[in-house]
Amino acid sequence: MQFIKSIIVTLLIVLPGCFTMYAQEVTFNKDIAPLIHRSCTPCHRPGESGPFSLITYEDVAKRASFIKTVTRNRYMPPWKPDVHDTLFINNRKLSEKEIQVIATWVNNKMPRGENRKNTTIPIPSFNTGTQYNRLPDLVLKMQRPFLIKGDNMERFIVFKIPYELPDSANVEAVEFISANKKLVHHANFAICAAPEKEDIHAGDDFINVTEDDRSKYIQYDAFQKNMVYYGGWIPGAAYESYPKGMGWVMPRKGVILLTMHYAPQGKEEQDISGLNLFFTKSTIKRKINLISIGSGGIGEKDIDPYFFIPAEKIKTFQVKVVTPGMDQSVLYVWPHMHLLGKKFRAYAVSPKGDTIQLVTIPEWDFNWQELYRFKHLVKIPQGSVLTVEGSYDNTSNNPNNPFHPPQTIYSSGDMKSTDEMLTLVMLTFPYQKGDETLELVQP
Ligand code: HEC
Repeated sequence: MQFIKSIIVTLLIVLPGCFTMYAQEVTFNKDIAPLIHRSCTPCHRPGESGPFSLITYEDVAKRASFIKTVTRNRYMPPWKPDVHDTLFINNRKLSEKEIQVIATWVNNKMPRGENRKNTTIPIPSFNTGTQYNRLPDLVLKMQRPFLIKGDNMERFIVFKIPYELPDSANVEAVEFISANKKLVHHANFAICAAPEKEDIHAGDDFINVTEDDRSKYIQYDAFQKNMVYYGGWIPGAAYESYPKGMGWVMPRKGVILLTMHYAPQGKEEQDISGLNLFFTKSTIKRKINLISIGSGGIGEKDIDPYFFIPAEKIKTFQVKVVTPGMDQSVLYVWPHMHLLGKKFRAYAVSPKGDTIQLVTIPEWDFNWQELYRFKHLVKIPQGSVLTVEGSYDNTSNNPNNPFHPPQTIYSSGDMKSTDEMLTLVMLTFPYQKGDETLELVQP
């Protein structure tokens, strides 16, 4: 009996060991490639933001220990929201298990693994020039390259991109594109309708708002009055896409006023930026609205305390806005601060006292901003109080502080990278019954 017991005990100890050994046969072809191709290659391929490609076995094996480190410390893939990130459909975060699988593979000296026929697995096909799931229907870009002088000056340039289509078009996705994204501090685009008889090609094709006489800008005023949609891009962000039947309509004839904010550069560089547009035949039954709260938007004057950050101070500001009119459904939230930003939080409290989480970024990073898209539309009842809160570190201990020694920082409304902002942009619709349970998919 004692003997049988000890055999059983031995088996119990040895067997799980065998199974783990077997389970740990982690190979590139079987385990690593699918993970890398899903979570890394969309950015780490030619033409995208990643500094090198992560596609083939060689690409990945060559940087194996680096990859083990950046996945373990969650630097890559970039994803900044806190635990409520489960609310978001565009969540890029790797699971603990996936991080462990990468580590195991690297520790085991990167076995390649076998396929039935050859030893390399097929490389997934990506569409060049877009992160969306298909090629754009229309690409509208600046008409010629813009030269950015290497004089360490910050520049705001408004480009006018005229266009004419056979007919108006329903937009299901829009994506900012740039030949040189690393130069771009942020970009905004206004899609403006133009009257049929208007000469959309007349006048300047760009205005240098920083260096030119600002009165030149008046020539674009007429377009701006007919703005149909307004969107933007911040470093790290991908495309914006809308569920079926929702979105906005691109007028048949118009201009895009693309405001480019170029960061200061030490060497001369060129850029061509623009938009990829993806159209749909489905009618847009619900037009999306963009609401901006805080600096440059609703409640700007009510930021509390008054928005300035003295040198060597850490300060927190809040802005509270009551949702007007009717119940709203939120599709995206887009938090925005600049270089001194440390923490960001936005939530709503309904008239019944329920707290509705929108987004929390515990460690703000200017380089990794995103439009966070909810899995389910989030209902904000009429009369809810929306709070946007941001903390800023203007001390010399903040490595991102653009000034040494630190200076008093304001929000001058110019949106310079050395000014600060506290803004939450939301893409919303008027609420309809059943919105909370709509199944939204990420294309
Ligand atoms: C949203 C785009 C994006 C995704 C997704 C992404 N990367 Fe990156 N990655 C970048 C960019 C841009 C940089 C260069 C800037 C930087 O280092 O912060 C970078 C840098 C890196 C670096 C160099 C870091 C350093 O300190 O120089 C490594 C290694 C890396 N990525 C690995 C990965 C791995 C592995 C994945 C997937 C698990 C991944 N990345 C997913 C965009 C991305």
